[in-house]
Amino acid sequence: MTQENSAGERLRERARAVIPGGMYGHQAAPGPAFPQFMRGGRGARVWDVDGHEYVDLMCSYGPVVLGHAHPAVEAAAAAQAEQGDCQNAPGPVMVELAELLVGTVRHADWAMFAKNGTDATTMCATIARAQTGREKILVATGAYHGSAPWCTPRPAGVTAADRANLGHYTFNDLASVRRAVAEAGEDLAGIMVSPFRHDAGFDQEIVDPAFARGLRELCDATGAALILDDVRCGFRLHLGSSWEPIGVDPDLSAWSKAIANGRALAAVLGNGAFREGAQRIFVTGSFWFSAVPMAAAIATITALATEGAIETMRHRGEALRDGILAQARAWDLAVHYTGPPAMPYLTFAGDTGHELGGVFAAQALRGGAYLHPRHNWFVSAAMTGDDVALVLEATDQAFAAVRKHLGQ
Ligand SMILES: Cc1ncc(COP(=O)(O)O)c(C=O)c1O
Repeated sequence: MTQENSAGERLRERARAVIPGGMYGHQAAPGPAFPQFMRGGRGARVWDVDGHEYVDLMCSYGPVVLGHAHPAVEAAAAAQAEQGDCQNAPGPVMVELAELLVGTVRHADWAMFAKNGTDATTMCATIARAQTGREKILVATGAYHGSAPWCTPRPAGVTAADRANLGHYTFNDLASVRRAVAEAGEDLAGIMVSPFRHDAGFDQEIVDPAFARGLRELCDATGAALILDDVRCGFRLHLGSSWEPIGVDPDLSAWSKAIANGRALAAVLGNGAFREGAQRIFVTGSFWFSAVPMAAAIATITALATEGAIETMRHRGEALRDGILAQARAWDLAVHYTGPPAMPYLTFAGDTGHELGGVFAAQALRGGAYLHPRHNWFVSAAMTGDDVALVLEATDQAFAAVRKHLGQ
């Protein structure tokens, strides 16, 4: 928590002088109560630069899935670093990781790698266009697919040409997709979709399986690519693509965040029908072939499987949900608790400006639970029953603060 003359406050002041706006993007602290700079983390706990400890419910906005500094992942990364990282050509780990992903994710026949989720979603769009020879990509209104000019949610610096080949539909509304498909006509290259609706600041919406099947059918009928943006959900909800449990396979999928438990890596996975397009595009980056994150990814995916991490996250998430909903009832506060248990989000009824959400999150933080007022939370597999209990103590105080704020 930021206090006058604290290390956090001094860093903020220095940052204001040398970093535009003091900070940018989604890691700008969500309010003055929140630390802007962190010192480190172990398991489900993190510390800010002033040494305050929190149970981490943001997990670096998704990358940390097994907990901070997971021993097997760190050991694999250290062993690879000893050999080499950024070299004239990739290490054997690139092929090993591609094989592991192809063996783990049902729709994947091949894999390509990059650094960030935006790289992966942008590559998916480019591959869809290269393969189909068409230009239009449909996205859900309000969905986040990254920060490149074609998809950034802020219009500053973006030209109309950057967005000219996008069409829009409403998540879970097949009729709106059919209209957008008809509008794109012969020029439809792909439909991009997230596994569930997780637009920041809004209640989350689980996908209707009939909607997912409808998208698959529309893509089959038109030859367009079904592109699943699994950047946020991938390897948190299922050990495979997030739509495997509902039986819908995309043609292309974008991954990053949890794939290497916090190391910088992204992947595009695709089926055989889109291999040729993937082969023809030119994409690369100076650091895209670094071996250390790839070794970390192999260790992460292996640990996710052997440690039953997906079930642990679901169970901890369910305990958290049940506790928080019981507290909301006890405080007589109307809340919406949405999203899968491992990626929940809490809003207060009618709190469209997030005023109550802000009061709640700031007090939860003071009680030692790091969660966000305008973004979904992330449960890691490192969370223990004690961590859940500590979070629930903090959220009880947070509901009390909201009650007080309402003056009742
Ligand atoms: C669904 C989704 N797609 C794409 C991205 C972009 O990923 P990155 O920030 O790594 O570029 C994000 C990041 O939050 C995301 O949640």
